Amino acid sequence: MITVDRMIQVLDSVNDLPTLPSIYTQITEVIKDPNSSVADVAKIIERDQSLTSKVLRLVNSSFYGFARQISTIRQAVVLLGFNNIKNTVLSVSVFQTFAGMSLGRFDMRDFWKHSIATGVLATFLDKRLRKGYQEETFVAGLLHDIGKIILNRYFGDMFEEALQYAQSKKETFYRAERAVIGFSHDEIGEYLAEKWQLPYTLVESIALHHQPSNLRSNPTLVAIVHLANVLAHELHFGFSGDFKVPDVDSFAYEELGIQKEELEEIKEEARKVLEDSHGLLSIIE
Ligand SMILES: [Fe+2]
Ligand SMILES: [Fe+2]
Repeated sequence: MITVDRMIQVLDSVNDLPTLPSIYTQITEVIKDPNSSVADVAKIIERDQSLTSKVLRLVNSSFYGFARQISTIRQAVVLLGFNNIKNTVLSVSVFQTFAGMSLGRFDMRDFWKHSIATGVLATFLDKRLRKGYQEETFVAGLLHDIGKIILNRYFGDMFEEALQYAQSKKETFYRAERAVIGFSHDEIGEYLAEKWQLPYTLVESIALHHQPSNLRSNPTLVAIVHLANVLAHELHFGFSGDFKVPDVDSFAYEELGIQKEELEEIKEEARKVLEDSHGLLSIIE
């Protein structure tokens, strides 16, 4: 068992901690400037061919729901707006950064499937419950378990120990981490998100997705990601090291203003949304 402080010390000392492509930071800077144009933002993305083709593939997927084909980055920037395109670039950058990394003995495709499903469901819940976060919901869900990859990379033995514990006790990975490691992937994810200087809303939704009632500044987005994660598990979409479906925290019901009975209805709609979003997985290939 080691403490969170020790975990931070270890990660502070490694020199190959994954970094985000500088394009994300460049876009963030450019859109802060009120004089920036669509062309300014598009130019940054177009410099990277692989990013360009992946962004176009993503915005043309059924998830974005545009009726016509979007064939240029400029069109995408116009249709999506600056903040949305920024978050789309972040999503694609995350895939690029973590593409070759593994999660011990479990299938990365399943991990991404779980992460994408959580992003899709967070977006669905936000719309369904009219919470108005829109732009950040997908990437917030996509990133929620990112700490697991870092855990496996730098604390491989502990990762394996937690996985075994979860499997033998039929527990969630989070509880297993708490029992055998002493810290958990939400804390590592928070560390990474801060290192990457992501917006605080994202830091928070990563940090609190298992403890939504630890109120900070955006409890609604945290509750959305929390519930989206549970639903992704319940609907068996992907795998993220959990051998038990986590419970919905009662705080999330309150914060989102839903009754337990309504959840069944939401779950059925969510199942359809996930089935329709299969195409999104091609982005990781
Ligand atoms: Fe998690
Ligand atoms: Fe998860």
